Amino acid sequence: MSYLRSLRRFPAKSRSLFPKLIPSLARLIPTALLFSGLCLLTSLAPLAQVSSSHAGGIADKGLDTRVESILHRMTLEEKVGQLVQYSAGQPTGPGTGRTDYDDMIARGEIGSLFNVIDPKEINKYQKIAMEKSRLHIPILFGLDVIHGFKTEFPIPLGLASTWDPSIIEKASRVAATEAAADGIRWTFSPMVDIARDARWGRMAEGAGEDPFLGSAMAAAYVRGYQGSRLDAPDSIAACAKHYVGYGAVEGGRDYNSTEISEHTLRQFYLPPFHAALEAGTASLMSAFNSLNGIPSSANPFTLKQILRKEWGFRGLVVSDWNSVGELIPHGIANDGATAARKAFLAGVDMDMVSSLYHDNLQQIVKSGQATEAELDEAVRHALRVKLGLGLFEHPYVDEGAAAKALYHPESIALAQTAAERSFVLLKNANGPDGKALLPLASGSQNVAVIGPLADDSSYPGGAPPGSGPRVSLPVALAQRLGESHVSRFQGAGILDGSDNDIAEAVAGAQKADVAILTLGEAPDMSGEAASRAHLGLPGRQQELLEAIVRTGKPVVLILFSGRPLTLPWAFEHVPTVLAAWLPGIAAGPALVRTLFGDVNPSGKLVVTWPRAVGQEPLYYNSLGTGRPPGDIDLTRPPSDVASRYLSRYIDEQNTPQFPFGYGGSYTSFKYGPTTVSPQRLSVATLNQGLSAGAKGTPAVTAEADVTNTGSRPGEEVVQLYIRLQGTSVAEPVRMLKGFQTVAIAPGETRRVKFELKPEAFAIWNDHNQILTEAAKLTVWISPDSARGSPAQAEIQP
Ligand code: NOJ
Repeated sequence: MSYLRSLRRFPAKSRSLFPKLIPSLARLIPTALLFSGLCLLTSLAPLAQVSSSHAGGIADKGLDTRVESILHRMTLEEKVGQLVQYSAGQPTGPGTGRTDYDDMIARGEIGSLFNVIDPKEINKYQKIAMEKSRLHIPILFGLDVIHGFKTEFPIPLGLASTWDPSIIEKASRVAATEAAADGIRWTFSPMVDIARDARWGRMAEGAGEDPFLGSAMAAAYVRGYQGSRLDAPDSIAACAKHYVGYGAVEGGRDYNSTEISEHTLRQFYLPPFHAALEAGTASLMSAFNSLNGIPSSANPFTLKQILRKEWGFRGLVVSDWNSVGELIPHGIANDGATAARKAFLAGVDMDMVSSLYHDNLQQIVKSGQATEAELDEAVRHALRVKLGLGLFEHPYVDEGAAAKALYHPESIALAQTAAERSFVLLKNANGPDGKALLPLASGSQNVAVIGPLADDSSYPGGAPPGSGPRVSLPVALAQRLGESHVSRFQGAGILDGSDNDIAEAVAGAQKADVAILTLGEAPDMSGEAASRAHLGLPGRQQELLEAIVRTGKPVVLILFSGRPLTLPWAFEHVPTVLAAWLPGIAAGPALVRTLFGDVNPSGKLVVTWPRAVGQEPLYYNSLGTGRPPGDIDLTRPPSDVASRYLSRYIDEQNTPQFPFGYGGSYTSFKYGPTTVSPQRLSVATLNQGLSAGAKGTPAVTAEADVTNTGSRPGEEVVQLYIRLQGTSVAEPVRMLKGFQTVAIAPGETRRVKFELKPEAFAIWNDHNQILTEAAKLTVWISPDSARGSPAQAEIQP
């Protein structure tokens, strides 16, 4: 069905399992994380409804009788109350609705509160709900637990750069255990928005630009948060957000509108949400952005047609912060009642903060603008999550136990492993002695740590600076080298700095054997409401960098940021650059172990790293254009007709600074040719296999030798990409369809094999149906999205 026709059809009306998580992470990796053929196909939406009948989950049919018996006893007021949510703590947006929560809870007018993090306060509110409200329905307490609760893990962009869903699952388990012990049973995470534009600050919160990788990560978060049973005391309900298309905001400016064709929506933006649903997510958040003119929090096509009808979702849809109220400035409602009606009829169950459901929904039902059956359905979704969590049986948190769940040594160790695996070595050029600067030689050398970000790279939403057993880089370096070998210079602030500070840092670098520069963005320069039009180093940091490089001392640049930064000068003149993202609580030890080679970096980029802001949005899985530049040298301006009338810039190359999937190592890997078998496939056989989804038998085997040609053991994220040509709709120049992390000893060759199920070759065709088509098939097994030798095959009609 076409998008427009669909719109017309819907008129505007985390303890006991806490674990033995950590010790064998390193050992797990060599077993190769085969993800390709084994991964659920998340884009097969219409063929495969969500079958998430996870025991103890929200889709558990066993909950239905209990839901109905509660619903049966509820008044109209109480039903609406279950759909009302307020922030009752530190606000995470403008305006907080109301403050008379005690009275409202007693009257059954509130279903959920969030941003309350004191267990005593949580119990205080819960006591009112359980003892004073007529039906004793517990309050659901939520929070943005996005990369750990108190034990702060790397930001999600960093976590995704591990290319290791098992780390994300374990980190989310720790987050769930800590949050649940505090009384928080609902996290507004994972953010599964595809992000193609580094100007958008919220790129930091997601898994990057690829739907295949993003789907794997989305499912891992949900599994980690929700555990093996949602009703276990250490499980919390996940909330996949922001549904949908939010990452495509125009100009990368937060809260802006989006224009996404149905084809692109289905191919790129929807799959991670479907993967979260397949993994059993209890809830989903409707986004701020308008999508093709319809605000996401009032869009029946995405919220009803796709989510409920095609995918069969039975969980809760909560609006984003005041996104119901924002229907007015969006321009599709002129008053609160209309905004509430449009959001509700489109499929938003719970109203976060705006109070418009509280104020209007009863009247909307009484006046017949919405039916009581529609109201009942929304209430069912809310009750199912509360029942699924076991909140009716265990509404209170053990106030004495809360603090004991935090900062377990195993959790800190996992945060350190996650950080080590999240770092992406962008550059490590050989010096005049023919040797790369990293890893630094052990032994006594004098290190100057320079820059504003060495001491604190925590992130808003993570633990506040100074909390928990945090070890900064200078402290960890001093522990390794001895205090007298480490000097520390601020050099510049993030946004400011003086000539004197720069001069002191230069003098410090001159006395040292090596300068470690810690530059980048302040933690609050990425995330929500942190879009940037300039992606260079803020303030005087570029000046500081150039001054230190001019000393001629060896320089290691560690970049802290929630996004790629456009630093052409640095990538040309600084020998060694490491992207550390915002690494969390164990930043210091993780960085020191990496700098000295105790661990060999293996992280790879999950977003394309631009050369210039003007290239954005920039992503590897783009379409081909009718005028690809081919072999034309784009480093020079066009000089004739042949070099001019191409899809190119006259003042910048098309290629990124670093492609999606790129990441260096202290060793080197050589890839042999890709082989594919069989080389002839048939549309009919592939289409037959489609309905089996991930359970189907492999249709194609692709293999390549990968050799460690260096002198150190290393882990390599081996990637598999395909391209389909000759199809009814133009397909991307490359699409990730598999990845594996392989540990390879120096001199060793590993044969890496991928098995691709029929679903890998299905496309959203020109009728927006997912099917296989006759096509020329190209397959690469490669270290990133720009290299690798292609193998050819054919899908025959
Ligand atoms: C607005 C953000 O967009 C969303 O991600 C978050 O969960 C809510 N605020 C609640 O803090």
